Amino acid sequence: MPAEMPASRYTYGDTEAAADRLTLVASIFEATSRRFLLDTTRQPPGLAIDLGCGPGLTTRLLHETTKARRTVGLDRSDAFLARARTDAPDGVTFMVHDAREVPSPVGPAELLYCRLLLPHLVDPASVVAGWSTQLTSGGMLLLDELDAVDTTEPAFVNYLDEVARPVVAAQGADLYVGPLLHGMDDPLGTERVVDRTATFAPTAALTARIFALNLAVLTDQGEIEPRPDLAAPLEAIARTGAGRPATWRVRQIGFRSGGAVG
Ligand SMILES: C[S@@+](CC[C@H](N)C(=O)[O-])C[C@H]1O[C@@H](n2cnc3c(N)ncnc32)[C@H](O)[C@@H]1O
Repeated sequence: MPAEMPASRYTYGDTEAAADRLTLVASIFEATSRRFLLDTTRQPPGLAIDLGCGPGLTTRLLHETTKARRTVGLDRSDAFLARARTDAPDGVTFMVHDAREVPSPVGPAELLYCRLLLPHLVDPASVVAGWSTQLTSGGMLLLDELDAVDTTEPAFVNYLDEVARPVVAAQGADLYVGPLLHGMDDPLGTERVVDRTATFAPTAALTARIFALNLAVLTDQGEIEPRPDLAAPLEAIARTGAGRPATWRVRQIGFRSGGAVG
């Protein structure tokens, strides 16, 4: 790792509960991520890489939708990768790797995909620029990240403003990384061929379940003090469904490499 790269800690950890949380999150992102991958992949890549793959849900989706010959998931967590490797389909493998580091341990790829990792990294634009050097000529770097969660439900607003955003901000990162990616310069030697938003609005009960689980995981990880004042209203909405829903807004960006691998 270059000496100047700051330390980074993933605040949600890699326990079983953290993996269950990611399974729920993946369920609400799945349709829009699938659409994004289908819209941007013209032919099956030889190699597709999933950056910050967690328990491998995005890796499977990437492999299935793009029909890549080979798909590799990279993550820093041994525990998540052990789960990811269970029943992995043919052509899908996983490696422990700090995704910020280049060169990629598996060589340049026709397709690099990243979902929900950049909100946890300091200086995401520099990380993206590094990734862009790991594309084959004509290869695509796809970013599928959060712009915002729009809601007027007090239980959601309070959780987002008092916990979700401050916890990642304390790491020098931004949960809503989408606007930064939208505004950043195109990495050298690439062209921005897609920059769009997609939205989805799960039921209030489902958003509440995710936020309640997030809160429990962050408390277990020691990232926050227990917050029964936030947990109780979330659990009530999860149980009864009585609450205003939230609209999740996702930024989907594609950079195509026009040059040689750097
Ligand atoms: C929110 S999860 C996203 C998982 C998956 N992409 C998805 O959308 O379901 C973020 C993942 O990034 C991983 N991670 C955090 N920092 C990392 C780093 N520097 N290098 C590789 N993986 C990292 C975490 O272990 C976690 O699995």
